[in-house]
Amino acid sequence: MRVLVTGGAGFIGQHLARRLHAGGHDVLALDSLLPQVHADAGAARAAFPGPVVVGDVADPAAWAALPEGTVDAVVHLAAETGTGQSMYEVERYHRVNVEGTRLAARWAREHGAALVSLSSRAVYGEGGYTCPEHGSTFGPRCCRHGQPVASTEDDPHRPVSVYGETKSLAEQAAADEGEGVVPLTVIRPQNVVGPGQALHNPYTGVLAAFLAMLREGRPLTVYGDGHQTRDVVHVEDLVALVAWALDRPPAPGEARVVNCGSGVRTTLVGLAEAAAAGAPVPSPGVTHLDVHRAGDIEHACADLTRLRSLGAPPPRWSAADAVADFVRRSWQQPGADAAAWDDALDELARRGLTS
Ligand code: UD1
Repeated sequence: MRVLVTGGAGFIGQHLARRLHAGGHDVLALDSLLPQVHADAGAARAAFPGPVVVGDVADPAAWAALPEGTVDAVVHLAAETGTGQSMYEVERYHRVNVEGTRLAARWAREHGAALVSLSSRAVYGEGGYTCPEHGSTFGPRCCRHGQPVASTEDDPHRPVSVYGETKSLAEQAAADEGEGVVPLTVIRPQNVVGPGQALHNPYTGVLAAFLAMLREGRPLTVYGDGHQTRDVVHVEDLVALVAWALDRPPAPGEARVVNCGSGVRTTLVGLAEAAAAGAPVPSPGVTHLDVHRAGDIEHACADLTRLRSLGAPPPRWSAADAVADFVRRSWQQPGADAAAWDDALDELARRGLTS
């Protein structure tokens, strides 16, 4: 099989490409090698086990520049992923995430390829709650008695960030462009973690921030009281799911959506502890910052019923092990100072996007 991986130079793409290559498949990448993500573009390119075409997925010319030859499937990973940053880089997020996905699906249709497109659990926004007083509702949380429930693929799309909105529109764009022809698998990952994650990019999420703080012996900054929850999934579990989707595509024109997560929620404080457990230095503890970023949600967790009923590979990593593995294997990798995350938060504050 020959597989085109958009965003292939990123950490998910690299893990996937290594796995496919080891399984005897050919891979090629389309990647813009953005400096925000790739501090060392040459190294990212060299690490990918196939040709890397440099181009922007939202630019039709980039697709037109791809080499000739049959491609059996497109795995569309390329995206802008910073929740906070999306709140002010609105146009860029729409262009890359929505138009990029539309072009990926169009290209798959024109080339008779299957499409596996990565969306995000961000499409659910706050997700569902259950409460003795208010019953079952979708967020924001009805009252302090509301308990979060895991999101199923049939839950409504109620994104609260521009990022989530673009991921929801991207799903629709893929379905519209591919309709009737392209076998389409949409995967909605929770918070993905693993070695190789961009450590220079202060928009890559809380775990890269925790790693930077641990390395400096600085207490881990938790926004708010830390009761918020996330479902952290190891990149290898996501990659196993993508490989499964490639092996067993749906029928032509059929579309399926599947969640990807560990299926277990962990509090932010719990994630901070898991990160510290993977570090070769004593834990510096956590410090709480009384701040809320626009676009942040309170709780997230994947319901894996559909994944299991499809016979897709279930997650093998617990969130705690995944986080510790990330910290352990990234410890020696170069990355930004923790101050970069302070600056990213200041930037949001300057733009009135914190409260
Ligand atoms: C993340 C991903 C997004 C993915 C989504 C799926 C990033 C930037 N975003 O969004 O691409 O689709 O998961 O679930 O990776 N926080 C701190 N301290 C910090 C930084 C953040 O406490 O130093 C808090 C945030 O306020 C938030 C939580 O940690 O409550 C998680 O934030 P973050 O990792 O930035 O992004 P998600 O919204 O979970």
